[in-house]
Amino acid sequence: MAGIPHDHYEPKTGAEKWVESRLGIIGLIYDTMMIPTPKNLNWMWIWGIILAFCLGLQIVTGIILVMHYTPHVDMAFASIEHIMRNVNGGHFLRYLHMNGASLFFLAVYLHIFRGLYYGSYKAPREITWIVGMLIYLMMMGTAFMGYVLPWGQMSFWGATVITGLFGAIPWIGESIQTWLLGGPAVDNATLNRFFSLHYLLPFVIAALVIVHIWAFHTTGNGNPTGVEVRRGSKEEAKKDTVTFWPYFVIKDFFALALILVVFFAVTGWMPNYLGHPDNYIEANPLVTPAHIVPEWYFLPFYAILRAFTADVWVVMFTEWITFGIVDAKFFGVIAMFGAIVVMALVPWLDTSRVRSGRYRPMFRWWYAIFAVNFVVLTWVGAMPAEGIYPYIALIGAAYWFAYFLVILPLLGVLEKPEELPETIEADFNAHYGKPKGDAAATPAE
Ligand code: HEM
Repeated sequence: MAGIPHDHYEPKTGAEKWVESRLGIIGLIYDTMMIPTPKNLNWMWIWGIILAFCLGLQIVTGIILVMHYTPHVDMAFASIEHIMRNVNGGHFLRYLHMNGASLFFLAVYLHIFRGLYYGSYKAPREITWIVGMLIYLMMMGTAFMGYVLPWGQMSFWGATVITGLFGAIPWIGESIQTWLLGGPAVDNATLNRFFSLHYLLPFVIAALVIVHIWAFHTTGNGNPTGVEVRRGSKEEAKKDTVTFWPYFVIKDFFALALILVVFFAVTGWMPNYLGHPDNYIEANPLVTPAHIVPEWYFLPFYAILRAFTADVWVVMFTEWITFGIVDAKFFGVIAMFGAIVVMALVPWLDTSRVRSGRYRPMFRWWYAIFAVNFVVLTWVGAMPAEGIYPYIALIGAAYWFAYFLVILPLLGVLEKPEELPETIEADFNAHYGKPKGDAAATPAE
């Protein structure tokens, strides 16, 4: 697919020509900012910029926190208290970083769910999707390791439980676990390496974000109709698009401003709302907390991990045919990682020729159930693994896999999509009316 034809940067002044003939940076910035962007993008297309903001916020607040933090089991907890009490603005900085992580995940989930509804992952945007999934995995690793740093009770026990999952891998599991921890249990070596990687990974994420943006700048953005920008000529493409600067920059910054009002209200007035009180107790390897719960953004996958208990027939059957190699614990670990793998493979699992859920009557229902199911899994992940909760988790986990592996492949065959608009321009005009003074769009009076 050829790129969207558009005007390119032409150096005008002598200085510009001098720089441009030696380093094409002005042209690169110009082409990035003036990229033709479908003019019908709705409010679900803001999350990418919010995510970029979150990444910047986490890096900046993190770097300042590091100036006062000590990655040692004897001092980590006290150094956080020192930041909270003695460092100028330290408590706010820490709360920004803590709640910034939550905003980051909220935004990434909305960004992913946008993609899943509008079929943003479909050809030719598979690489954008896969790189996005890599970013998401890195985000999870970074957040998990960051949570260990304050060395509270949840830090310690969360790390013990999650690294313990690797121990479930047959034969080599325990060696992997010891290798990850730097010893037989979560201790100073673990804290140190988690600190080192927690500092490093955001920069890897930043590099991946550049590849992510490069990928969707190559294909052009998707849009709510899933109909591509016309590429026959510059004039035609211009009818479907506006430049990113200033139109979408202003829209995205307006959205960012609104979101920041809520974000600062939470950070200022209820900074510990999303946290766990046990993490204000210093880590103690001799006292296990009553309920070990991860941060809210891990809960859906935590629910999937715990859903497959030894009495579930699929687990029993798998254990039987693998001669006991895949037991309930290992099955849970496979299911948890598998849930992300199937989501990463969605560009190839969704067989529909129509991208956008807007024109897919059956898909819309299954998608709605999928979205509700995600919320239910988040809720049930926080509940104790007893009574009715494991059953709810099992139904939720089963639906997750059914959605990607059965429903999406089948819908492409069974569903009759609704009629698509011919062009993005037609969709835009139908929603907002024809732009005034647009000679091409306004018939001669
Ligand atoms: C640090 C994390 C991320 C950043 C900064 C980021 C940034 C962006 C930006 C700026 C866009 C352009 C339009 C928009 O805002 O929607 C975009 C599009 C996209 N992102 Fe992300 N993203 C991130 C993570 C992810 C993840 C985890 C996924 C899921 C796999 C993903 C999938 C996509 C897809 C498929 C598009 C193309 C949408 C379209 O053109 O219609 N991104 N991303």
